[in-house]
Amino acid sequence: MPRLTIDGRTVEVEAGTNLIEAAAAAGVQIPHYCYHPRLSIVGQCRMCLVKIEGMPKLQTGCTTQVMKDGMVVLVDDDEVRAAQEGIMEFLLINHPLDCPICDQAGECGLQDYSFKHGQAFSRFEYAEKRTYSGKERIPLGSEVVLNMNRCIQCTRCVRFTEEISRTGELGLFQRGARTEIGVFPGKELSNELSTCVVDICPVGALTSTRFRFAERVWNLDKIPSLCSGCDVGCNITIEHRRGVVRRYKPRTNPAVNDHWMCDFGRSTFGRSAGSRLTVPTVIRDDGRRAAVSWKEALDAAIERLGRAEAEEIAILATGCVTTEEAFLLSRLAEALGTTNKSVLREVDRKREIPNPVGGVSGDEATPNRRGAELAGLHPGDQRLRADELVERDGASQCRVLVIADGDPGSRLHAPEVVERLRRSSSLIVIGWADSPLAAVADIVLPAASHVERDGTFVNSQYRLQRANKAFPSPTGVRSSLAIVGELLGSFKEDWSGLNEQAVFARLAEHVGAFSGLTFDTIPAEGIGLQMVAGGAPDSA
Ligand code: SF4
Ligand code: SF4
Ligand code: FES
Repeated sequence: MPRLTIDGRTVEVEAGTNLIEAAAAAGVQIPHYCYHPRLSIVGQCRMCLVKIEGMPKLQTGCTTQVMKDGMVVLVDDDEVRAAQEGIMEFLLINHPLDCPICDQAGECGLQDYSFKHGQAFSRFEYAEKRTYSGKERIPLGSEVVLNMNRCIQCTRCVRFTEEISRTGELGLFQRGARTEIGVFPGKELSNELSTCVVDICPVGALTSTRFRFAERVWNLDKIPSLCSGCDVGCNITIEHRRGVVRRYKPRTNPAVNDHWMCDFGRSTFGRSAGSRLTVPTVIRDDGRRAAVSWKEALDAAIERLGRAEAEEIAILATGCVTTEEAFLLSRLAEALGTTNKSVLREVDRKREIPNPVGGVSGDEATPNRRGAELAGLHPGDQRLRADELVERDGASQCRVLVIADGDPGSRLHAPEVVERLRRSSSLIVIGWADSPLAAVADIVLPAASHVERDGTFVNSQYRLQRANKAFPSPTGVRSSLAIVGELLGSFKEDWSGLNEQAVFARLAEHVGAFSGLTFDTIPAEGIGLQMVAGGAPDSA
């Protein structure tokens, strides 16, 4: 591999690496606007100019590849600084400078580079800036709004629709100083990844209809986690202010979602804001629902489970449970002596996210059906498995049916399914949404939502990844792990009071696919289970 020196730091990179990436590997930042690692290189913003020993003029770092040993590059250099200041001066001549009301403020490439590479004055004294009158808020589609006055014509958005979504809705129109971005006649920006153009737009020209004016970005806390919208398992940051989630943004993982996520996944940020279960409830003998203490609710559940014959008990989870929760539910079934323990498979439309290794697709509505099965909630041939309970009359044979409920929109909440599940003599629901199912349950145990708990998911490619808690649950709510742990602990003492790490450790002891792994050492990019198990994880 060729070696080069950048600002005195020596680094070795693959032949063909461009100078922006080579400098990043050496810990040197070359400012850039039009370059994006997953888009074709166009060399048009000129922000990445660097000095290369032996070359008469400054060169663009994005278009210059390292091919052989000995290149000497300077970024920290007076000539380079003067070029950067000049480019910033040009870009700012016509920029509206409406940072106080711009959604991008706080995460804007123009603001950041003005501060780092710009100057405090402009030599241009134009009476009027160039403006695109009437083009300050053009909906390009249902998800994205364009303010043409802020555009710096980097063409990242155009290249995205040509090269990543391959839908080609966007183009450059007009010429010279009047060049503008727009959709082709009769089209709208309507591909499933459309909001990604907002992420890659380096300025505030493209904004998200879901997030516009919702929050100043510097007020947001950002927690790395996973999307729960389907089984692709896109890596995201949950961005919230004091427990109110404002948006999901993609977090780069080249093995899964790369730099992208779908619009549907983004839309799921609001799920946890719906009506919540916050207190345990029990339906009393007189038929009325009463709010009760945790002790009373858990005692009632334990008492019903203890009284039922083993095969009259069924445990059903949706694929929204974490692998650790599924493992405890499976152990609870085992402690009760029942084989009726299963996870519901909810097939949904196919979603595909491109990445450099062929992309990831998924067609399930939940993130972790596979993890739940691996952890012990097999579809199997048991009498009261998920499809018997949900699609047929299985619940009428249950003395006690325990359901770990899913997100709003789960098939479990369809009226006909609720009616079928309600045929169980006793219905116990562990969940966070005030769902139609919770509304008819005998015992409701309010649990942490998907943004309020730690755990692992296994995606459609059997990649194990960690989802992280963004903020605590409302007062009175417990994690599903704690709830199931308490139920299980009353039948098998040595299983009570375990946290995620401890449950995962026992999972790794019991299930071959997780063998040798620990909760805290799961890599940030996840890990393919088949590599660990040495075979198809399904058979583990
Ligand atoms: S809208 Fe944004 S991404 Fe598109 S060309 Fe303008 S500045 Fe670049
Ligand atoms: S593809 Fe699935 S996991 Fe990825 S963002 Fe969309 S819904 Fe979420
Ligand atoms: S990043 Fe090199 S010219 Fe734009």
